Amino acid sequence: MPNTESLNVAVVGTGYVGLGTAVMLAYLGHHVTGIDIDERKIEMLRRGELPIYEPGLADLLHASESRLTWTSDYAAAIPEADVIIVCVGTPPLPNGHPNLRYIAEAARSVAQNLNGKFQVIVNKSTVPVGTGDWVTRILEDNAPDYHANRYAVVSNPEFLREGTALHDSLYPDRIVLGSASQEGIERLRQLYRRLLEQDFTPPEGVPRPAGLARPQFVTTSLNSAEMIKYAANAFLALKISFANEIAGLCERVDADIEEVVHGIGHDQRIGHRFLVAGAGWGGSCFAKDTAALISTGAEYDYDMPILQAAVDVNRHQRQLVVSKLQRHLHRLQGKRVAVLGLAFKPNTDDLRDAPAHDCITRLMELGAQVVVHDPVAMEQARREWSHLSYQEASSAYDAVRGADAVILMTEWQEYHDLDWEQAVASMRRRLVIDTRNVLRQLPSDTVLEQIGRRRVQETHALPMLPVGASSVHV
Ligand SMILES: NC(=O)c1ccc[n+]([C@@H]2O[C@H](COP(=O)([O-])OP(=O)(O)OC[C@H]3O[C@@H](n4cnc5c(N)ncnc54)[C@H](O)[C@@H]3O)[C@@H](O)[C@H]2O)c1
Repeated sequence: MPNTESLNVAVVGTGYVGLGTAVMLAYLGHHVTGIDIDERKIEMLRRGELPIYEPGLADLLHASESRLTWTSDYAAAIPEADVIIVCVGTPPLPNGHPNLRYIAEAARSVAQNLNGKFQVIVNKSTVPVGTGDWVTRILEDNAPDYHANRYAVVSNPEFLREGTALHDSLYPDRIVLGSASQEGIERLRQLYRRLLEQDFTPPEGVPRPAGLARPQFVTTSLNSAEMIKYAANAFLALKISFANEIAGLCERVDADIEEVVHGIGHDQRIGHRFLVAGAGWGGSCFAKDTAALISTGAEYDYDMPILQAAVDVNRHQRQLVVSKLQRHLHRLQGKRVAVLGLAFKPNTDDLRDAPAHDCITRLMELGAQVVVHDPVAMEQARREWSHLSYQEASSAYDAVRGADAVILMTEWQEYHDLDWEQAVASMRRRLVIDTRNVLRQLPSDTVLEQIGRRRVQETHALPMLPVGASSVHV
């Protein structure tokens, strides 16, 4: 029997989810080994460096390092593990279906190293319904014979958001577990006991919210747990696309989307969160998960028109940004356009499906000269967006200087705090496209275009938006 307080945990895949999970579990007192096939990441982690940008994670990593080990060798971690948590990527294939190659490879490597005692294999990656059963088959086919049936497979979908990953991991609304194995569920109740009882000392910088309710412990079948993750993301995506669709109508009828969502969000059946107009959703999850759900529907000859409409609205929303620019500048050939923010949202360096990518691509197609700035994601963009040719600026002020227009793509605090008077004074033409509806006060001779808003000067005073309030990504 494992120690009831502290378990040995192997976390497979040390990306945004795996790293946050590993560090959080070590902080709670478990002994955790993070496994990744990317040796560069493992080397960095061994040196105490983080391969990703996530606020607060470095401090928690250092506070918990005595209980953390990093390796590329499954044999060094799996045999000792009471719980094995799979957090590898499931990126989309061209047909919308997630690529399950990494899941299959990880399952095979885990299987070959099982120890014959009872071990729980947890899937935290977002995977289509039925994947848990398929992983069980892979384990059966690859685990040595005498280990047969000495393990449980549990689906434990992850709901953390990049940028607030620690907060979300330590103070979740719910922990969802899907499995046919009661023994597996009980071991995970043990793993998450301190989260469920909230009896740990909060780390500095990640305080427990006042009046926090204990997380709900939701147990379901394997298939339902897998569906819960997709359905949750699909619903949030719908909410954003709904706000964007209403925003489009607001622009036509001279209403203001900020006032409208302020008014309807107070209805407790609706709520304010994710009811936000802007450049549309981005990030590693929404596009991939909506496409996966639609593609699962197609496998069963089942249309999902509501979800498809949400995807279409999102695509249109991205095009809208450049259309707004064209409305003022007309031909963009040779115009200098500053893009502030590359990451798909503030407080992350993640560029996956970032709206800035589509915007820059379109600007380049139209012959604009693009100059960009991002407080943390520029180095990542150099690696991932080498096919785009834009100029980098070392500060937001440098990006804006001499520009014909500035597009605020990501609502970093730094852009919020910019001395906009100074910034627009250095522009060739004073045009600001705020795709996140966060700017409130600009010099009166500046043309400010937002999404679904009346001219700001004409609107009723609204509270200044806290940074991240318009973040619409998981
Ligand atoms: N990023 C998020 O905000 C988020 C939130 C909830 C759920 N998810 C889901 O969690 C999963 C992981 O997402 P992520 O953003 O952390 O991905 P990621 O790409 O950042 O990390 C995946 C990691 O897995 C590693 N890996 C791949 N194959 C491996 C193998 N065979 N053995 C060991 N390591 C391997 C990769 O090297 C990489 O470091 C996805 O299914 C995603 O949909 C992500």
